[in-house]
Amino acid sequence: MPLDESTVPASDISPSELIAADTGSEWWRTAVIYQVYPRSFADSDGDGMGDLPGITSRLSALADLGVDAVWLSPFYTSPQRDAGYDVADYCDVDPRFGTLADFDALRAKATELGLRLVVDLVPNHSSSDHRWFQEALAAGPGSTERARYLFRDGTGADGELPPNNWQSVFGGEAWTRITEADGTPGQWYLHLFDSSQPDFDWQNPWVREQFLDILRFWLDRGVDGFRVDVAHGMIKKPGLPDYTPPADSGSMGGGLEEGATPPYWAQDGVHEIYRSWRALLDTYAGDRILVAEAWVEPLSKLANWVRPDEMHQAFNFTYLESGWSAPSIKRVIDASLEVFSSVGAPSTWVLSNHDVVRHASRLGLTADNPQGAGIGPRSPGLPDRAVGLARARAASAVMLALPGSAYLYQGEELGLPEAIDLPDEARQDPTWFRTNGERYGRDGCRVPIPWEAASPAYGFNTSGESWLPQPDDWAPYARDSQTGKPASTLELYRLALALRAEFDLGSGSVEWLDGYGADVVAFRNGVVTVIANTGTVPVELPIGDELLATVELDGPALPGDATVWVRSA
Ligand code: GLC
Ligand code: MG
Repeated sequence: MPLDESTVPASDISPSELIAADTGSEWWRTAVIYQVYPRSFADSDGDGMGDLPGITSRLSALADLGVDAVWLSPFYTSPQRDAGYDVADYCDVDPRFGTLADFDALRAKATELGLRLVVDLVPNHSSSDHRWFQEALAAGPGSTERARYLFRDGTGADGELPPNNWQSVFGGEAWTRITEADGTPGQWYLHLFDSSQPDFDWQNPWVREQFLDILRFWLDRGVDGFRVDVAHGMIKKPGLPDYTPPADSGSMGGGLEEGATPPYWAQDGVHEIYRSWRALLDTYAGDRILVAEAWVEPLSKLANWVRPDEMHQAFNFTYLESGWSAPSIKRVIDASLEVFSSVGAPSTWVLSNHDVVRHASRLGLTADNPQGAGIGPRSPGLPDRAVGLARARAASAVMLALPGSAYLYQGEELGLPEAIDLPDEARQDPTWFRTNGERYGRDGCRVPIPWEAASPAYGFNTSGESWLPQPDDWAPYARDSQTGKPASTLELYRLALALRAEFDLGSGSVEWLDGYGADVVAFRNGVVTVIANTGTVPVELPIGDELLATVELDGPALPGDATVWVRSA
């Protein structure tokens, strides 16, 4: 916040007035944004599914933590075949999550607490239950309704083969054949994800108009911005040519080296769409933002998503994937700062979200685990919990000292591990079904989070119901088990966020420090010196007052899997 305590006594100004005063300051350049996954945050009606009134009732915990903004994953009308990323009505709330009035109440509460509110927008595909798709099915081949989506005739003698060889991100073919209204086998439609998620044809101006209206609807309701789902996928290469991805590319299509761009990811045509959205956002008062979920590599290409007339931010998945290794962490920090600043955008940093193995487990894995594969009881190289947690705390302490904007995923501030031992029959991720259990998918990071050690469902609700079963050893992770305990992960995050604000780390810079050895990430950001030891050999601590340490330090050395912040002269 730019207000200076010497001119405005902090106690006389409410958080919402601070937000108002802050308009125009580009808050997002340095913001810490907390991802709430509505299904699993807090459940007000005890049906086992989190909901908007639940979020509102627990929101003050996030203000206490010290974040600047909340990003809400989808809460729109949806059959929930992909946990809400299959939207059947973009301008309404699913009854499982509440009503539009509940949304307004959440918005009001966030404002009162000084929190910005970003919502998810899912433009690559709708649910197959959406009226637009149902009308397309009914209207028949060649109709304007079919032109909203990517319907094509099949190949083979009778159209019995799919139009091309594309595979779904969730496994299996990316095409499904429909039965026409007269009962005959018909056209095929494209779905890069589940068969219940037909892709729109974004070359069609009608689709573009609908989404501008959807943006206006939520902007008028006061949202501070949109996290744009699959922002690398909306335009497909003309002709929809066959494509076989290299074996080592992650499920979201990583490894997009020059010349090997898949015909469904990162096509140039996406940018004019974002320019039109940016132009719309710019007509609204306040600092409203667009943040791209774009799995695009290398980073230099991702910079195109955040040029001055496009989105404000893009998730830095290269950082998320850099692992617990000093050389690769340093490399990606350097590349990120350089690439994003070359287009005038802040870098972002992220370690966990609802699609990846929680970093308290991921950083302890001893076998490769491609994004989207998830982990379960039969996965190779399962993590040691203590090692994973130590690394997660150390990695988070690096991330929160970096200039730019950081994203947190609910539960990481509790040091929550992945729920690995979910029973097969409890799993719900379409990835699990579409790969016949070969990939566990993402349920393990989506389990409802613990609030109170001794309450039913750990305080997620009062009924004890939970849409995914909560492990029975989660009491120590509950927020009330950690509150006020300086050694806890919760208090570590709270301290890191407070120091980050106090020393303006979000708007600072990285000055690398030499001499600590290959396994150490060592840098200064303003007066704060950060040392992270990713190796096993203890390293000498820098001179200065200790501000924060992810382990209890006894003596002048920093052990492995630990980070310290020191105030330098
Ligand atoms: C994004 C979402 C993911 C969803 C997919 C399809 O990657 O983050 O959860 O399954 O898009 O919408
Ligand atoms: Mg509920």
